[in-house]
Amino acid sequence: MGHGVRNRPCGGRYGDIVEAIGHTPLIELKRLSPKPGVRIWAKLESRNPTGSVKDRVARSLILDAEDKGLIRPGQTLLEPTSGNTGIALAMIAARKGYKLKVVMPDNVTPERSDLLRMYGAEIVYSEGAKGSNGAVELALDMAAKDPSYYMPYQYGNQANPDAHYNGTALEILEELDEVSAFVAGLGTGGTLMGNGRRLKEELGDKVKIVAAEPMQGEPVQGLRSLDDGFIPPIIDLSILDRKIFVTNRDAILWTRRLLDEEQLFAGVSTGAIARVALRIAGELDEGNVVFIVADDGTKYFSSGIYTRPIDEIANLDSTVWW
Ligand SMILES: Cc1ncc(COP(=O)(O)O)c(C=O)c1O
Repeated sequence: MGHGVRNRPCGGRYGDIVEAIGHTPLIELKRLSPKPGVRIWAKLESRNPTGSVKDRVARSLILDAEDKGLIRPGQTLLEPTSGNTGIALAMIAARKGYKLKVVMPDNVTPERSDLLRMYGAEIVYSEGAKGSNGAVELALDMAAKDPSYYMPYQYGNQANPDAHYNGTALEILEELDEVSAFVAGLGTGGTLMGNGRRLKEELGDKVKIVAAEPMQGEPVQGLRSLDDGFIPPIIDLSILDRKIFVTNRDAILWTRRLLDEEQLFAGVSTGAIARVALRIAGELDEGNVVFIVADDGTKYFSSGIYTRPIDEIANLDSTVWW
């Protein structure tokens, strides 16, 4: 092979785009590593078909409902989501012949609404100031009033963490024999629970499961703080070894550092996650630190975070990042 190109057998061959979900690359970030014995790995979930980790979850939620006979073609699925799960559900619902209605805060970036409409979903907006909790409240209310909806409800559905338990975590274990720390953002908690449970089962308590949480009152798109009053039912706090708070400013700074130093184009929650991964890496003498790149930055272009001076951006009202 010329020029050092190493095509591991082309990422596989699949019957359709839904089957192609997952199988994402694990990329070493050598420039960010604080010492030679500590290796930092980014799991590129942005390489999924709709650009985020939520493709895995949306597929798992729909397959689970089909297996249990809870949905039939033509039925309307209803889900509260800040965007990524909705976009992924919209793509899969369209492929499989379901309709989709998503409930989403009215202050998310316009790219998210465009992507949802592009895949044929209908959007119901909830009050932006109430964040994702407001979207959850409104969707639960709509579902209670109209039993014809099927609500997968990723916050309380075991199929969400199972997508990681049976997918993401196995892919990581295929590539690495040792993992000292696994770092992800906390939204529904699915990524941390599913990966955390599988990694601990396979590697024991040596692997530390670490959550990146936004500071209360400083929302980072896609993430939530457990201190804000709602603990999603799928969360088992005993799986988490640590949670580390990240400011909105740090999330943005680190999103830019990933881009400038490692040429890794990621969304804002990944900036927060990388910040925490690097802090953990700094505490170790050796070992592998794996963190999740939840999505790429295409949905955040309009916010200007990749192009405007950092000080100008970090001082903006943080609710616009939600
Ligand atoms: C951009 C982004 N990052 C991180 C997360 C957190 O993932 P999880 O819901 O698995 O906790 C989400 C989930 O909504 C997200 O959209």
